[in-house]
Amino acid sequence: MVIKGEISFPGDKSISHRALMFAALTDGESRISNLATGADVQSTRKCLEACGIQFQDDGNYVIVKGGQFSDPKEKLDCGNSGTTTRLLLGLLAGQGINATFIGDDSLSSRPMNRILDPLSQMGLKAKSENYKLPVTIEKSELKGIRYQSTIASAQVKSAVLLAGLGANAETTITEPILSRDHTEKMLIGLGANLTCDELSSTISPLISPLSSFDLSVPGDPSTAAFFAAAAVIVPNSKIILNRVLRNPTRIGFYGALQKMGAGMDCLKQWEEAGENIGKLKIFHQPLNAITITKKDVPGLVDELPIIAILATQAKGKTEIQGAKELRVKECDRIHAICKNLKKMGADIEELDDGFIIIGPTQLQGAKIETFHDHRIAMAFTIAGLVTDGDVELDHPECASISFPEFYNELDRLISTESTK
Ligand code: S3P
Repeated sequence: MVIKGEISFPGDKSISHRALMFAALTDGESRISNLATGADVQSTRKCLEACGIQFQDDGNYVIVKGGQFSDPKEKLDCGNSGTTTRLLLGLLAGQGINATFIGDDSLSSRPMNRILDPLSQMGLKAKSENYKLPVTIEKSELKGIRYQSTIASAQVKSAVLLAGLGANAETTITEPILSRDHTEKMLIGLGANLTCDELSSTISPLISPLSSFDLSVPGDPSTAAFFAAAAVIVPNSKIILNRVLRNPTRIGFYGALQKMGAGMDCLKQWEEAGENIGKLKIFHQPLNAITITKKDVPGLVDELPIIAILATQAKGKTEIQGAKELRVKECDRIHAICKNLKKMGADIEELDDGFIIIGPTQLQGAKIETFHDHRIAMAFTIAGLVTDGDVELDHPECASISFPEFYNELDRLISTESTK
């Protein structure tokens, strides 16, 4: 069995969320194609609809009519999506909206103090128990602040910048390591008064609506990572990844693949909507261990579950440190990775802020606990391509949070013929 063929991906999830939200802040119609197809981006759309923003589906496009936000009549159900919750908390605070945010069990256990702390400093009146969902926000006069964030989080940065659009003066946020910069790039492109200086971004209150836009969202590099990994670990495999976003704050995984010795060529690259996009060829080659430290983490934070799988097939000691954020993702991903890989016979040691894996190991089939986390489900499905015996997931359907087509696409690319 080999992995071979070409694959194109639905739009990047981070850009899709932002495209819907920023289109809502315009005074015209925006046309967005290749939006992410997963449930998370649907949650953003539904929450915006509940706030009076109109959407229309037109073939491959979603048309968003920007305009006035109104108080939602029902609670805003953010489902499983941290990005929906945290970005909308900032955006709706800036628009003077009264709203209550709720979510599923996973989202309701995730920390919201990272957002509520800076927003309360700006003057937002908010209620929650233990800084978890449900969170209720009340229309408040916001003031501009200078905020030094202790975590490198694009969700925190974006929430503060979006609230800053509705504040009475400039707002600056500084982060310890640069996190993904889609909010900054997109808002600048749409006419907001935003400046960036290394780790700081400063935004001025919005005095006129953003410009409406047409956008075809580039393919999601985080989703593509699972397919790249499949081609890398299955001998004689080769895959072509079409139109993948190559924003420098998002390609840590591809840098890690190269360091590990995987086969990778960029066949073509071009610019679109201010982003670098590429067509990549990825192929199997023996892997070596790598070290990932705190400064590397923001650039590959969502890819660490699949990097753990690759590490079990790499020669030597892979160390992942400075990744404590993994403990507060859709599940405690450090725990989920270590528990499941141990069951499969991997040599893995759990650290407070990461893990150490010594490879290579012939993994065994096992019953995998996904913890309802889409990236754990997809990572362990890829591991199942090289196990001795079957991998069985307790909740395979959770992959649809980001990529409902995951299993069909993987099946399509599995072939009995060798590429050689
Ligand atoms: C995201 C930021 C990251 C990432 C998440 C999407 C975003 O979270 O893990 O999947 O779109 O801003 P943090 O900001 O918590 O690191």
